Amino acid sequence: MAEIAFRLNGTLTTASIDRPTVTFLDWLRETRGLTGTKEGCNEGDCGACTVMVSDERGSRALNGCILFMPQIAGKSVRTVEGIASPDGDLHPVQQEMIAHHGSQCGFCTPGFVVSMATAHANGRTDFDDQLAGNLCRCTGYAPIIRAAEAAADQPVPEWMQDDPPGAAPLNSDMMASPDSADALAAWYVDHPDATLVAGATDIGLWVTKGMRDLGPVAFLGGVRDLATISVDDDEVRIGATATLTDAWPEIAALHPSFGELIRRYASTQIRNAATIGGNIANGSPIGDSPPALIALGATLHLRRGDTRRSISLESFFIEYGKQDIQPGEFVEAVSFPRQPDRLKCYKLSKRFDQDISAVCGCFNITISGGTVADARIAFGGMAGIPARATHVEAALQGREWNRKTIDAALAGFARDFTPLTDMRASAEYRLRSAENMLIRYFEEDMAGAPISVLGVSA
Ligand SMILES: Cc1cc2nc3c(=O)[nH]c(=O)nc-3n(C[C@H](O)[C@H](O)[C@H](O)COP(=O)(O)OP(=O)(O)OC[C@H]3O[C@@H](n4cnc5c(N)ncnc54)[C@H](O)[C@@H]3O)c2cc1C
Ligand code: FES
Ligand code: FES
Repeated sequence: MAEIAFRLNGTLTTASIDRPTVTFLDWLRETRGLTGTKEGCNEGDCGACTVMVSDERGSRALNGCILFMPQIAGKSVRTVEGIASPDGDLHPVQQEMIAHHGSQCGFCTPGFVVSMATAHANGRTDFDDQLAGNLCRCTGYAPIIRAAEAAADQPVPEWMQDDPPGAAPLNSDMMASPDSADALAAWYVDHPDATLVAGATDIGLWVTKGMRDLGPVAFLGGVRDLATISVDDDEVRIGATATLTDAWPEIAALHPSFGELIRRYASTQIRNAATIGGNIANGSPIGDSPPALIALGATLHLRRGDTRRSISLESFFIEYGKQDIQPGEFVEAVSFPRQPDRLKCYKLSKRFDQDISAVCGCFNITISGGTVADARIAFGGMAGIPARATHVEAALQGREWNRKTIDAALAGFARDFTPLTDMRASAEYRLRSAENMLIRYFEEDMAGAPISVLGVSA
């Protein structure tokens, strides 16, 4: 058994867990009988289980269904039961949900209210983005967004102030919570078969859907020296445990199209948990950050014990399910050179928000004197791994930057990729989409402006 101490709806609380993968949602509903927080999908997609988690870095909305109990150690958590005051005074977002008829069946409402209260506490008014991870089948979003807008200027109630207790290290046979990269390196060399849990947005599903027993686990949330992001004249370096939310503003300032890709990455709740290191280390062929990072010429920094090595990011992905990483070795950071912004990322998915890519193409093409001086093009969803379009790059390199060159280069895609047909897209659709993305990059470059995929024009 392990004891997890945290603050729940303002009250210091201790929970006993018999395995590291007990989810907060299960504990809350089954052990505490707090059933206001709902279970919809149990895989991070619907937001019915949204809770607000606060620590020294501020407050964020997270999906309770894929949040393991050790991940909340030392933090303050507010569920829907803790959004009104202890005396029953409603929070402004609750008042406005009533006033604007923001609820019908009510199943989604607790999750929406917690997401809205968290956005309210953070002063966020980009409600479409803040609420994209909360699904509502019956009310429709307009009344909910109107409620959020009406609450925005009202003060944050004083009962929402929290005082996170801070975490004691969790070290037992079944889990560890290292507080530095050195501590992680030492522990992992001794436990090379253990599972590293960063944001748990993949691993959560191994447990809730795959019913897997993970064995010993190290939680990386406390490894703060791996969460730093540094930008200097030569290089951008992103620590492995930086979340997508952490990295978003830094990346968007340098490469706005990559920033837009992150805006469409899952949802606020998932971006608040998912790490850059996890998005790379999972080896997924449809992860969104690897194609962008490969197109930027990224280097991956790995560490085992005191031994460090750096490899090009594309060489990390060997084949589907196989990466260049040894037992006991972990990702410390990813870096890419500072460069003028020529990067464009195009994500095709069945839904615009909160969906995994069918195809994600990233283009970083440098033109000098009307000629292609350098071309780095990388794709997700076109092979078993994120991969470069080397034949297309070669067909562009050194050629004049005109439509004739583009049309000639298109044939390279069929030599570079033999995509799969699966539930997201057919092989033919993927190949045609990849070709169209190159044409789009060229047309946008000629027009000097991005082509909006949201705007409608006749
Ligand atoms: C609802 C939903 C929507 C999603 N949408 C998107 C999307 O739009 N785009 C997208 O790209 N992904 C998406 N994902 C996938 C997921 O968010 C990412 O793959 C995520 O970045 C994984 O990071 P994590 O920190 O949560 O990793 P975890 O789940 O904690 O770990 C994933 C894997 O990486 C390993 N790992 C983690 N950190 C390290 C490290 N530092 N060193 C070595 N190994 C490590 C773990 O051991 C594990 O094998 C979605 C997931 C969900 C549930
Ligand atoms: S229950 Fe759907 S996101 Fe958690
Ligand atoms: S009110 Fe029914 S799902 Fe939103």
